[in-house]
Amino acid sequence: RLLIVDFGSQVTQLIARRLRELNVYCEIHPYQNVTDAFLADFAPKAVIFSGGPASVFVDGSPKPPESVFDLGVPILGICYGQQVMMHMLGGKVERGHGTAEFGRAYVTPSGERIDLLNGWFLEGREQVWMSHGDHVSKLAPGFEVYGTSPNAPLAVTADLSRNFFAVQFHPEVHHTPNGKTLYENFIKIAGFSGDWTMAAYKDQAIEAIRKQVGDQKVICGLSGGVDSSVAAVLIHEAIGDQLTCVFVDHGLLRLNEAQEVVTMFRDNYNIPLIHADESDLFLGALEGVSDPEVKRKTIGKLFIDVFDKHAKSVGGATFLAQGTLYPDVIESVSFSGGPSVTIKSHHNVGGLPEKMGMKLVEPLRELFKDEVRALGHELGLPASFIGRHPFPGPGLAIRCPGEITRDKLEILRKADAVFIDQIRKHGLYDEIWQAFAAILPVRTVGVMGDGRTYDFALALRAVTSVDGMTADYYPFTHDFLGETATRIINEVQGVNRVVYDVTSKPPGTIEWE
Ligand code: XMP
Repeated sequence: RLLIVDFGSQVTQLIARRLRELNVYCEIHPYQNVTDAFLADFAPKAVIFSGGPASVFVDGSPKPPESVFDLGVPILGICYGQQVMMHMLGGKVERGHGTAEFGRAYVTPSGERIDLLNGWFLEGREQVWMSHGDHVSKLAPGFEVYGTSPNAPLAVTADLSRNFFAVQFHPEVHHTPNGKTLYENFIKIAGFSGDWTMAAYKDQAIEAIRKQVGDQKVICGLSGGVDSSVAAVLIHEAIGDQLTCVFVDHGLLRLNEAQEVVTMFRDNYNIPLIHADESDLFLGALEGVSDPEVKRKTIGKLFIDVFDKHAKSVGGATFLAQGTLYPDVIESVSFSGGPSVTIKSHHNVGGLPEKMGMKLVEPLRELFKDEVRALGHELGLPASFIGRHPFPGPGLAIRCPGEITRDKLEILRKADAVFIDQIRKHGLYDEIWQAFAAILPVRTVGVMGDGRTYDFALALRAVTSVDGMTADYYPFTHDFLGETATRIINEVQGVNRVVYDVTSKPPGTIEWE
């Protein structure tokens, strides 16, 4: 197995993801936990040092133990990981006084071709993604340069005698298009056979759940989305009827959603399911609330109250299970001292009150959406269910900018259903990551028949994405957009204008709030 030492980069999980794609088993451990004893026990076959926000100049800056360099296994240092290697092995790092470099850069070969870069430079140069303040100014003894860029002369370095590699850019992100090849070469050098699979991941996850939960009871919040469904089925395989699912209808669901989800779970699985209709509670608390973060936190808190109530009703569940994914974690948590800021409080992470009376089971916390789908497939969930577009925990609340009213929700539900129907009819559903309507807090003037209308404007959003972290708007044809707008205005009373959102993420986010 491979060890990833985490120095707090926002994209450490992407390293793990690239390795899982290459069928290599790896674990991420924060650098604080990686001690001599830990290393001896873990016995990694290779080690990767992640990037991180720190500077090696700061007292107490994150470092691995010296003994990692004596294990005799290949090491790959990325960005901050490169600097730490150079710093500890006798090279020199310089502070980046205003020379920080962020974004696209191009690396060209230098010196001989090495195995780490097999398949690189086929077209002369490689695009990479840089994100660093400090930089290495003098190599540690034994290291040579094998790739260089105008602003990062030491972009790729290695000590071939020890199989130590250090790169200044981030090969794990999409903006380093050939980054996966670099990882592939690295694991080949380290001698991995690449035979680890999602089936193996499932078995490990089941083992881990059993170990964590013991003979305690668990309740699982089921939203009807792919994530919580996969989590529920996985946990049920692990602990059987120690699990009860709670499907909370917060009054912010899509058209017919509650029936569909309840039917699907009762028909296909024997998992005990409580259908909690709490729409009055949620909509009451949201009355007059228009701030997005207040909405999210209000909903998050009420979810917990409802779960607490049902935890008691099933005879004392001590664990709450959630289908939290890695992008939820990274976008909700600010690492101390790190550059990562809170963009949104995802209801299943940031909105949790400090003193929740239950412990969390989050078996998907390390996974990305498409990996969750692969796991769902492994667990035998119906394909139609696995392929569903994601739906956020706070539901329609965050697709209704401004104050939420029952009337607006009604309009939104109907319009959303027409939009999705259009997408299905045109055979586009599976090409799109997520599509939905948002009802805008403005009314506009229109003319229908001979009369004046003064109704809501509606925004349509459809995006493509691999993992929800970045997204592009979907390029519908004008015919499709025109036809859909006409259908919505004809079929949904209360809407007289439809616009299409053509913002990518970043700078936008997928949801409007
Ligand atoms: P954003 O809007 O942050 O959304 O670009 C990225 C993905 O996450 C979904 N999303 C959520 N999922 N709880 C969830 O379970 C939430 O609070 C939440 N907020 C956004 C969103 O639908 C998109 O797929």
